[in-house]
Amino acid sequence: MSFSSLNLAHAIDPILQIADSALLRPLKTEDISSNYIDSLNTPIVRKYLSTQGGSQYNNTNVTQFVLQNDTASDCILFGFFVKGIHCGTCRLHDIRQQNSWLGLAIFDTTLWGQGWGRKIITAVSNYALNQLQTEEVLAAIDPQNVGSQHAFAKSGFHVLVDEKLTRADGVITEIWQRKLNQG
Ligand SMILES: CC(C)(COP(=O)(O)OP(=O)(O)OC[C@H]1O[C@@H](n2cnc3c(N)ncnc32)[C@H](O)[C@@H]1OP(=O)(O)O)[C@@H](O)C(=O)NCCC(=O)NCCS
Repeated sequence: MSFSSLNLAHAIDPILQIADSALLRPLKTEDISSNYIDSLNTPIVRKYLSTQGGSQYNNTNVTQFVLQNDTASDCILFGFFVKGIHCGTCRLHDIRQQNSWLGLAIFDTTLWGQGWGRKIITAVSNYALNQLQTEEVLAAIDPQNVGSQHAFAKSGFHVLVDEKLTRADGVITEIWQRKLNQG
């Protein structure tokens, strides 16, 4: 599949239903709330995320981020909604035929440990592999982020033992991979 047909597939906003009460859909600027911004600034949520030098999130930079993602042809910023409430995001980015990258954060920490991470990672990587037909989905995970490693492993990812990635903030991460028919 050519990259232009990947773009075409992206042209229709995908809605991924992951439970009766929960879905993922592209995030829009209308979804931005003070709760979303405050959550992005919560130390426990951002502990393992690349946070651009530790800068704080505010209405201006979050709006810019959501707009950039909404208009870009090579990424999708999914909002995770439970009973209509915005509880997290999952970003598929650098979408290419060869590979695409996935990152997520569940802002509502009361939802952690209930299987939502696994469901989100599985649904979005399924979408990338089956609908966008990217050949592999990759994730950069801080080796200290045990919860994330468990959630990705449960979603069919495995660590690439000889590969590391140095993030813009200097953290050396491991690279996890899922290919079609590998879990
Ligand atoms: C990482 C994150 C997405 C995990 O989501 P989650 O909904 O808590 O994960 P799940 O409930 O699907 O967990 C999947 C498995 O990992 C296990 N797990 C989750 N957190 C764990 C932890 N801190 N320690 C050990 N195991 C953990 C769960 O028990 C589950 O295993 P089980 O199915 O055998 O019970 C969530 O904690 C989060 O958003 N953290 C902040 C942002 C972040 O770190 N993002 C990842 C960047 S790569």
